[in-house]
Amino acid sequence: MPQPAEFLRAMREIARHAGALLQRHAAQRVAIEYKGEVDIVTIADRESEQLIMGRIRSLWPTHDAVGEEGTRRSTGSDFIWYVDPLDGTTNFAHGFPVYCVSIGLEYKGELFAAVVYDPTRDELFSAGKGSGAELNGKPLHVSATKKLSESLLATGFPAHKRHKNPNIHFYHQITMRSHGVRRAGSAALDLANTAAGRFDGFWEFNLNPWDVAAGALLVTEAGGAISDMHGRPFDHRSARQTLATNGIIHAALVDQFDQIFAGRNLEPLPDPRVF
Ligand code: IPD
Ligand code: CA
Ligand code: CA
Repeated sequence: MPQPAEFLRAMREIARHAGALLQRHAAQRVAIEYKGEVDIVTIADRESEQLIMGRIRSLWPTHDAVGEEGTRRSTGSDFIWYVDPLDGTTNFAHGFPVYCVSIGLEYKGELFAAVVYDPTRDELFSAGKGSGAELNGKPLHVSATKKLSESLLATGFPAHKRHKNPNIHFYHQITMRSHGVRRAGSAALDLANTAAGRFDGFWEFNLNPWDVAAGALLVTEAGGAISDMHGRPFDHRSARQTLATNGIIHAALVDQFDQIFAGRNLEPLPDPRVF
């Protein structure tokens, strides 16, 4: 049986190298290119993916891999790597220091090992299935917040298909029922910060496997819970709905989502014309 520890040492080193590459580009401000109307990409995304995938291929040539910037290797291996070489590209391209490198490893269909590296704060989050989560070598645990009304939460809005995304309704309702909802612009870091107890929960619609594979394992290994927005099992391979919490407030958030989906007990939006 393979053990996560066999992979984590190299994963941490690879993530640190990729983070250093991002910081070299950040020092010079990179040109923005467009994948879609507002979906941007930079040379740093591509070089970081090349570096990470090159290292994975040379260490584990038989493994499969999926990377946001185009890597696809699908041979039926038990091991699949999910790589977001730069999560938070929009922040990065504007010089807002909230972004990271996210590397998740699946074994036989389950999340197995994870690293998320924030090069701006030199914070390296890691987790192995069944062996807990760490931040820079120290054990990581989700928060002990008991009530949704006392929680600080996070969410995100995608750049692509943003006109079809219903999340503004959820953002509004949950903001009214909590200490607030942050929208920092990096789903992988939002999950890592939930694992670290800085956020009590996080949700987002229509993420991709590379956004969530590492962060989902961080959350569960730090003692938290992850599901879809109805409380059903979470699937990192589709990630259509992601709801991660400290576990304690999970049922309360699922209940809120049920109400919002059904249009019940909604706070009306204030009218800006009478403000
Ligand atoms: C994005 C970030 C953002 C989330 C978007 C993602 P990218 O990833 O994680 O927080 O709201 O849905 O696409 O494009 O910066 O790697
Ligand atoms: Ca991403
Ligand atoms: Ca990305």
